[in-house]
Amino acid sequence: MDAEIDSVAVLGAGSMGHGIAEVAALAGYEVRLRDISEDLVQRGYEQIEWSLDKLSEKSQISDGDAAAALSRIEPVVDLEAAASDADVVVEAVPERMEVKREVYAELESVADDDAVFVSNTSSLSIGELAGVTDRPERFCGMHFFNPPVRMELVEVVAGPDTAAGTLDLVAELATSMGKTPVRVHGDTPGFVVNRVLVPLLNEGAWLVHRGEATVAEVDATARFELALPMGAFELADQVGIDVAVHVLEHLHQQLGDAYEPCPLLVEKVDAGALGKKSGEGFYDYDEGVDVPADAARDDVADVLVAVMAAEVAALVDADVADAAAIDRALELGAGFSDGPAAMADDRGLDALVATLDDRREETDAPRYDVPASLRDRAESGGRFHAAAPS
Ligand code: CAA
Repeated sequence: MDAEIDSVAVLGAGSMGHGIAEVAALAGYEVRLRDISEDLVQRGYEQIEWSLDKLSEKSQISDGDAAAALSRIEPVVDLEAAASDADVVVEAVPERMEVKREVYAELESVADDDAVFVSNTSSLSIGELAGVTDRPERFCGMHFFNPPVRMELVEVVAGPDTAAGTLDLVAELATSMGKTPVRVHGDTPGFVVNRVLVPLLNEGAWLVHRGEATVAEVDATARFELALPMGAFELADQVGIDVAVHVLEHLHQQLGDAYEPCPLLVEKVDAGALGKKSGEGFYDYDEGVDVPADAARDDVADVLVAVMAAEVAALVDADVADAAAIDRALELGAGFSDGPAAMADDRGLDALVATLDDRREETDAPRYDVPASLRDRAESGGRFHAAAPS
């Protein structure tokens, strides 16, 4: 536990909020988990119970640790009861600016003046969120990955006025929770992991939408050709298809048409099929997920890696992170066995650029535009990582 932090309030008991509360309680903090109705907060609490049971069933924690963690979590509906004596307030409410604005206004009237506020937002601007509070210097992003109890990375995102001490404190908090904090500077749309991962999901969806591949082929390719822990559609179901669409809408608005959400994703959201949390998304969770290994396709792998390579190049160009940091973030935040830059190097940047050029010509879609730096690197026989000495 961090010496300066005893109690943590988590606002929002949905898929991320309850997971963050669980992680904080396992690390020894007193946690208040808050949602706007008894029903919602109770549902989150029951999911924590389920998860702690699973972890102890699999001997990842002892029965005693599971019971102790649960006893440290108090589910509440009243915001003042949740936040008035919290040292850190983690906001994980729905990704709509007007909802967050209301929550922060109410929070300011009940929270301690010295408390640090962090947002688990995956898409909204940290600067804009900080601006609706009275404490932009004690505000930053603390972005966990789904499921928080299993994923090791936390992106610590600075807003324009965040104090260095706040970033240190939040990074220490993440470390005390057994996570690896990675600092992200500035308001980079999608930060690092989502900037690579969500376009990957979108590309999988476009391939299916255009009739070029099936869901099974895309997911088998991701799992068995690229050695990712989950297929693109399994992952969309895991994070919530609505969450993926929110991130894409934000990227679309901030960065342009290359990030237009695929209609296949939007249709699922409109139909209320949001993924695991609603029982059905691209898979039906009563039936379970079966991804056939023999459906993997090399041409699909090429497209998926090419799209990720373009994102890596754009992140490097914008000075958000270098290739090594991007790979590490994807390994820790999304369980990749090799990061996207290493995968691109393995496939050959020249081949990936050719794939992007061909598809750009064929489809006219801006998501296949090749960043100039990627083309230069490919033409000069370069790689993202220096080649290992032979
Ligand atoms: N708590 C406890 N147990 C859990 C759990 C949880 N929250 N979630 C799943 N499990 C259980 C499952 O029920 C399953 O149990 P059974 O075997 O009894 O059915 C078991 O864990 C599976 O565990 P394994 O270790 O065998 O499975 P795995 O090796 O496939 O690991 C995983 C599961 C860690 C989720 C892995 O698939 C993975 O890393 N997936 C990638 C997830 C990812 O990319 N997350 C980031 C998404 S992006 C994001 O979140 C940010 C955003 O803003 C959108």
